[in-house]
Amino acid sequence: MPKENYSIAKSKALLNRYDDVLLRGYIPHKNIFRQADMGYPAFVQRASGARFWDVDGNAYLDYLMGFGPIVLGYDDPVVCRAIQEQVADGTVYGLAHPRELTVAELLIEVIPGAEVVGFFIGGSAATSSAVRLSRVYTGRDRVIMCGYHGWHDWARPGDEGVPQTVSELTCAVPYGNLDALESGLKKYDNQVACVVIETIQAGGPPDGFLQGCVDLAHAHGTVCVFDETKVGFRVAMGGAGEYYGVIPDIATFGKACCNGYAGSFIAGKREILGSKACQSVWMTATAHGDPLSLAAMEVVIGELQRRNGIAYQWKIGNRLIEGINAVCEAGGLSYRLIGVGPMPRPVIEDSDRDRCMAMLRGCLARGYYLHPSHPMFLSLAHTEADIEDTIEAVREAIGRIIRRKKRE
Ligand SMILES: Cc1ncc(COP(=O)(O)O)c(C=O)c1O
Repeated sequence: MPKENYSIAKSKALLNRYDDVLLRGYIPHKNIFRQADMGYPAFVQRASGARFWDVDGNAYLDYLMGFGPIVLGYDDPVVCRAIQEQVADGTVYGLAHPRELTVAELLIEVIPGAEVVGFFIGGSAATSSAVRLSRVYTGRDRVIMCGYHGWHDWARPGDEGVPQTVSELTCAVPYGNLDALESGLKKYDNQVACVVIETIQAGGPPDGFLQGCVDLAHAHGTVCVFDETKVGFRVAMGGAGEYYGVIPDIATFGKACCNGYAGSFIAGKREILGSKACQSVWMTATAHGDPLSLAAMEVVIGELQRRNGIAYQWKIGNRLIEGINAVCEAGGLSYRLIGVGPMPRPVIEDSDRDRCMAMLRGCLARGYYLHPSHPMFLSLAHTEADIEDTIEAVREAIGRIIRRKKRE
C-alpha cells in the first residue's frame, strides 16, 4: 500500500543548503536537483541489501544500486568481513601489497583477453589510463570515443573548462554505426591512438558491432579499448567482450568490480601493456592499488562465482524486463525496459512522459525506485519475490492512473 504521508520534504530542505557550500558539478549524472523536481528523493541516509532509506525515512527497493557498483548487495557480509580484516591491517601503504599480484592473477584467469592488469581508482581514471597508454604505444594523439567514459578532459570534448586544443583531439561517433567509425579513422588516418567504445548502450550492440570496432581499429593501426565500466561483472565477469565473444586490445573496468569500493582496473594484451613504452608511463597515484578495493574485488569475484551471480542477474533482470513491459503494454503506458537483463534501460515516449512519470512516482511512494531513463542494475540481494512485487507495484500504479483518468 502507498505511504499516505509519502514526502521528500527533508531531501528538498537539504537541497536548499547545497549551492551555498558544495560544487554541483561533482554529481552531474546523479543530478539530484532534477531528480527532486521529478519527485524523486535527493538524499539517502543508509542502505542495506537491495534497499536504501532516504533522509525522510522512506525505504525503497533500489534499482540504481549506486549507478552500478553494488552487485552483491550494499552490506554484503562477505565483502564487509574482507574490508574489516583489511582495515585492521592498514588502508594505504608506501609499498605494494601481495594482493595486487593475487587479484591480478585472478583477473587474468577469469577475464578473456586479460594478460596484464593495472589498478586505479574510479572508472574515469581507468579509461584515461587506457588512452594515455594507447598514445604512448602508437605515438599518436587523437582519440575516437563512443559513449560516456568519465569526466576527464579527453572524454568531455567541448565542455566548459576543457581547453580547445584538448577537445580537438577527441572525436565522438554514434553507437552501433561502423560507417561513422570508419569515416573518423579515415579522416584522421595515422593519427588515431585508440577508439574507446562503451560496449553496451541502449538496447545493446547490433550484430557484429563490437568485432567490427576491433577490426576497423586494427586496420588503421589503432588500439581498440572496450569501456566495460558499467558492464563488467554484470553481463559477464569480463563484460560485453566476454559475453559477445570479442577480445579488445584493452578493456577498462570499474563500478561492480568492488561492490561499492572505488577501485577500477584495466586489463589487456601483453603485446601492448607489457611493451617497454607502456611499462614506463607515469600513472602513479597515492590511492592506486587501494588495499580496501583489492580486498573487495577478490571476494566479489569469488562470490559471483560461488553464487552463480552472473546467471542470477540475467534471470531476475530478464524477468523484470518481461514483467514490467507486459504490464505497461497492457495498461497502455509507453514505459519500457530494453537492453540486457543485468542492466535494463528504461525508455519513455515523449508524448506519454507525464503518465509514465506519474506511474514512477506511484512506485516511489510504495517503495520501488525505478528510473525514467538511466540503465538500472540488479544485485544478488534482489530476491525473485522482490522482482514480482515490483512488477505488481507497476501494475497497481498504472491502475490508479487509469482510474483517476476515468474520474476526471
Ligand atoms: C561506461 C563508463 N565509463 C566510464 C565511467 C566513469 O566512471 P567513474 O564515474 O567511476 O569515474 C562511467 C561512469 O558512469 C561509465 O558508465
